[in-house]
Amino acid sequence: MRLLHSPLKSAFVLRCLASVWGVFALSGCSWQSLLGLDGKQSTFDVQGPVARTQLQLFYVTCWVTFSIFVIVAGVLAYATIKFKARSESDEHAESPAQGHGNPVVEMVLIGGSVLALVIIAIPTLKAILYTYDVPEADRSNAYEVTATGYQWWFKFDYPGEQVPGSGNLTTANELVIPAGRPVRVNLRSMDVMHSFWVPKLAGKVDMIPNRPNFLWLKADQPGYFWGQCAEFCGESHAVMRFRVIALGPREFNDWLAQQRQPARTVQGVAAFGGAGVHLAALRPFAENETGASGAFEVAPLDAWRAKQFPEKNENPELISKGRQLFAEKTCISCHTIRGVQAALGVTGPDLTHVGARSSIAGGLLDNTPEQIQRWIHNPGLVKPGNKMWVTGYLVNHIQLTPDDELALVAFLESLK
Ligand code: CUA
Repeated sequence: MRLLHSPLKSAFVLRCLASVWGVFALSGCSWQSLLGLDGKQSTFDVQGPVARTQLQLFYVTCWVTFSIFVIVAGVLAYATIKFKARSESDEHAESPAQGHGNPVVEMVLIGGSVLALVIIAIPTLKAILYTYDVPEADRSNAYEVTATGYQWWFKFDYPGEQVPGSGNLTTANELVIPAGRPVRVNLRSMDVMHSFWVPKLAGKVDMIPNRPNFLWLKADQPGYFWGQCAEFCGESHAVMRFRVIALGPREFNDWLAQQRQPARTVQGVAAFGGAGVHLAALRPFAENETGASGAFEVAPLDAWRAKQFPEKNENPELISKGRQLFAEKTCISCHTIRGVQAALGVTGPDLTHVGARSSIAGGLLDNTPEQIQRWIHNPGLVKPGNKMWVTGYLVNHIQLTPDDELALVAFLESLK
């Protein structure tokens, strides 16, 4: 029995499709998210003009090659069907007269190929010129930072921001930039070749030893972006990551002012056993267990903002003990913490405000007490071959008791 007449049926189907579309539209779903193309490092979910230009160029190339595919596949399908053997006699028929070149067809093919290349070449050249450096008109408004690749982490310098007594402002793993403003990133390398890539904003451009390179990027809106070294640079290349945090002008200036300050000092007596000190044992981590804690999955920028303030339940005794251990265990010879005596090392990342960052260990682990403990417990397991493990822990025979680890975690977390 037919319940629906055809026109009714198609109206029903259309209504169903419209409501499905409506649900996605209302829930703010884009086609990128429908197809799963809006991941942390998706080049389809662009958030700035440089990445957008690169994506548009990708689409032009795709459409041109797709058109060529349709034409070639269409002609092939036409010939296959039209000249198919339909009977016994067809199968044994003489071959038709063979042609040896047709000037018109050849001219059309050559012309078509040249046209396809020109269609791709014009936007390619425009994109190369546009993405090479900050556009002339915008140059006076550009903000400048320097990114340096190390095996296996990124250092970020702010040449325009001087800190009295210690040169320019330096941070690591996380590049904080002003949103809506072009940012020129000088690219340097301390050891081997690395490559700077923030898929949603810009990249990739190589960081080459002894060769000054640069790129520019701009984030349309305040946001939190994931970056990655994109050039094989040794055994832990895959875990050489970083984050980019774009802030509005006022918040960015507040952040700079905070960063210029020396490390926060929490007063306390360096001792254990005070009321409320609870020593939790390190939970076992699988060798390749993810460092993502879930804290930065839903609203990463808000989670980052929350990291800028001291924890409510800080333990001053534990923090003081951690500060003391930071010197005793020779951490000071590789890391700078402005405001902590003798912590002047430059081999490893500057840790002056490490507690206010959302990630540690080259952007690999989320900055949570659990992950810091995991990292200082055995850095070699998290990032094979890294200097902190090989030339730090192994050479200096650094051994940390569970109590030491907790004190160091509390100290590092307190550095806002
Ligand atoms: Cu640095 Cu790959």
